[in-house]
Amino acid sequence: TPALNIALLGGGTVGSQVARILTEDAASLTGRIGAELNLTGIFVRNPQATRDFQLPSEYYSDDVDEVMDGADIVVELIGGIEPARELILKAISQGANVVTGNKELLATHGNELYEAAAQAGVQLSFEASVAGAIPILRPLRDSLSGDKITRIMGIVNGTTNYILDQMDSTGASFNDALAEAQRLGYAEADPAADVEGQDAAAKVAILAHLAFHAPFTLDQVYTEGITDVSDLDHKSAAEAGYIIKLLAIAEQLEDPEGVVLRVHPTLLPREHPLASVRGAYNAVFVEAENVDELMFYGPGAGGSATASAVMGDVMSIAKRRLRGGPGRTHTARRELECLDIGESTTRY
Ligand code: NDP
Ligand code: HSE
Repeated sequence: TPALNIALLGGGTVGSQVARILTEDAASLTGRIGAELNLTGIFVRNPQATRDFQLPSEYYSDDVDEVMDGADIVVELIGGIEPARELILKAISQGANVVTGNKELLATHGNELYEAAAQAGVQLSFEASVAGAIPILRPLRDSLSGDKITRIMGIVNGTTNYILDQMDSTGASFNDALAEAQRLGYAEADPAADVEGQDAAAKVAILAHLAFHAPFTLDQVYTEGITDVSDLDHKSAAEAGYIIKLLAIAEQLEDPEGVVLRVHPTLLPREHPLASVRGAYNAVFVEAENVDELMFYGPGAGGSATASAVMGDVMSIAKRRLRGGPGRTHTARRELECLDIGESTTRY
């Protein structure tokens, strides 16, 4: 049986669940693709720490060169800009395909990474970076590529939706709801990114990049978080028949040059489909000229749900590798696998 080596960078909330699936479901994964996916090591800050899912100690290392040596696929689940950026570039330069869930990095340094991957002829996949387990990037990139997307609107941050839902439905305090979201593994290492809206802003920049075929970055998104939404705001909204949700919106204006990106708390009528999105679930509405309207819905955060999206990318890369697709042992192809930036790169 052929084998592919998988190096995992990060063994926290999501990384430990990816490690669980790769090891516990190894036989089933092999049966599905006809190749073994060998988890060769997990790069972490503290190899001695106890994990949500614990493997024997020899898996964990703080020596990234040792972990990435000979990897066919490098899965980055560290988060933040550095060392994630530098390590993804290193993996690409070694000819490894890369999977990441790091929206902050993609929405700030995405072009550098996409170009490096294209030049090296490897894949860079990031389905888990937006809306957790929901398959939304592949539909935008593939299924909807023959339509003209006009607007994307959604709830794309699980932590803030959990907090707003708890405040609205149980009267919980902001701080208690945030602490619970952290305990459940929904929040970023620094939860300011969630509650101040930057996590949703990074995600809407990535969605807009795929939907409108032009690069967008975090600093192009008008961003307002939920830290100023009070108990009284929730009560007043409920009395008037509304609910408060943090929406992320990407809109193509009439002017073909214009796309507006924004994230802010919004009053929604209680009968609106997005009003029923509870807990850390996410939902994304996509409007396009021919399809009219689509809605994608599911778990937006959490270790095992997000690990499912990561594993989808790993399996997809593995299948292509086995068919002779891009990767370490193959001739480099100048092909951008995941993003078709196209001729409109310079339009915005
Ligand atoms: P965690 O904070 O739980 O885990 C981060 C892991 O990276 C830890 O194992 C940590 O090691 C390791 N790490 C951090 N800094 C370094 C460093 N400098 N050198 C070596 N290792 C390091 O994060 P999550 O698992 O929650 O998130 C990982 C990524 O996935 C992020 O980009 C996040 O935005 C994204 N994501 C998360 C989701 C979620 O629901 N949690 C959902 C979708 C995407 P140690 O354990 O030793 O401290
Ligand atoms: N902190 C993020 C959220 C994780 O709450 O949505 C998923 O990207």
